[in-house]
Amino acid sequence: MIDFSDSSFIENPYPQLKELRQAGRPVWDENSGMFLAATYADANAVLRNRSLGRIFKPRQPEEQWNEYNWLHSDSLLDSEPPKHTRLRSLLVKAFNKNKIESLRPDVVRLTDSLLVKIEEKVAATGQFDVIADFAEPLPVKVIAALLGFPDEDEHLLRPWSQAIVKMYEIDPSEQAQLAARKASHEFAEYVHNLMVERKKNPGTDLISDLATVEEDGQNLNAQELIATCILLLNAGHEASVNGFGNGFVALLNRPEQYELLAKDPFGMAETAVDEFVRFDSPLQLFERTATADVEIGGVTVMEGQKIASLLGSANQDERVFDRPEEMDITREPNPQIGFGAGIHFCIGAPLARMEMSISLPALIAKYPKLELVSEPVRRPGFVLRGYEKVPVGHKINT
Ligand code: HEM
Repeated sequence: MIDFSDSSFIENPYPQLKELRQAGRPVWDENSGMFLAATYADANAVLRNRSLGRIFKPRQPEEQWNEYNWLHSDSLLDSEPPKHTRLRSLLVKAFNKNKIESLRPDVVRLTDSLLVKIEEKVAATGQFDVIADFAEPLPVKVIAALLGFPDEDEHLLRPWSQAIVKMYEIDPSEQAQLAARKASHEFAEYVHNLMVERKKNPGTDLISDLATVEEDGQNLNAQELIATCILLLNAGHEASVNGFGNGFVALLNRPEQYELLAKDPFGMAETAVDEFVRFDSPLQLFERTATADVEIGGVTVMEGQKIASLLGSANQDERVFDRPEEMDITREPNPQIGFGAGIHFCIGAPLARMEMSISLPALIAKYPKLELVSEPVRRPGFVLRGYEKVPVGHKINT
């Protein structure tokens, strides 16, 4: 049985996930009260099966959880058709490839400005933190700009988001629960006020677009719009920060891969980014609930039972990937499912890929010889897998 909160499992979950895959079918996990689908075929089938839905069941139905609960039950991610279809169709235009491509010059500019700050830091201290100085500010600034979240309040986003997503771990502490409630209240109130404001004075941002949709009578209420904005602000950076950090640490620990990328960073960026997401996936587990009895990998999941799709495990499946335990930044094809599959497939995947395929080569081109100056610090959860700190500096002897 897996203990999802065990620190040695969190440090390196892959040996236990490999054992789990050896069963060759979903396995019932008494601890979490759900089936675990660990092979590529099963994890993928879970995400695509229409009798398995994302059904948000409040863990705590009490009044004090009100905002936390509707921020989830009314968001795109936690809805199923027809509501999911309505919400998603509103957003697809804003996130299609062409629209995202039009953001490229802004992302290049932001990357350059972060690199200038890093240069100053390196000059002063000889080191910087890949997370706080680079991986985090870029996606936060991009998603904030896309939604039209005010610059001066951008610093609020990451703490609110972090407090909310800590609830996605299997067994959140009392303290985490309190912080999540507080953040949900403040965040919902803030976005609500912003929407009221934008309705009066619309801009060209996504919050203005969404704020005016409600008036067009398209059958979306204020809660659904606020919940979806907050989902975008959170999902728009959490996994990107972690995906970059996880991949970058793996690269630093494999100097031959780092050197390979440094030879042609811009040419190899796209395959490297997908390998980052495959190799140590930033989102490891997504739950579904059966709305009817359904068979997955030879196992019957009864109506009302839960099953989890283990994305990071699927992406290490030896039945699909050649030498899965090796990082190969030139891997192609790379059918990784780190962005999910089926109707909830990540709407931000083109944006995340673009951000990383600009920022990663820019960092490597500027610093072709970085190394860790102390052990990177892991975040304590499994579901959202990432690093808190990745301190790096120039290699001295090469
Ligand atoms: C490396 C970065 C990212 C990864 C690995 C990732 C991964 C995922 C995954 C696995 C899902 C599916 C969840 C499920 O099936 O239950 C998802 C959904 C979603 N993602 Fe991402 N994501 C990333 C970046 C982004 C960005 C930049 C945005 C910005 C808008 C975003 C917005 C969303 C939204 C709104 C959904 C819900 C879609 C739906 O329910 O229809 N993601 N993401």
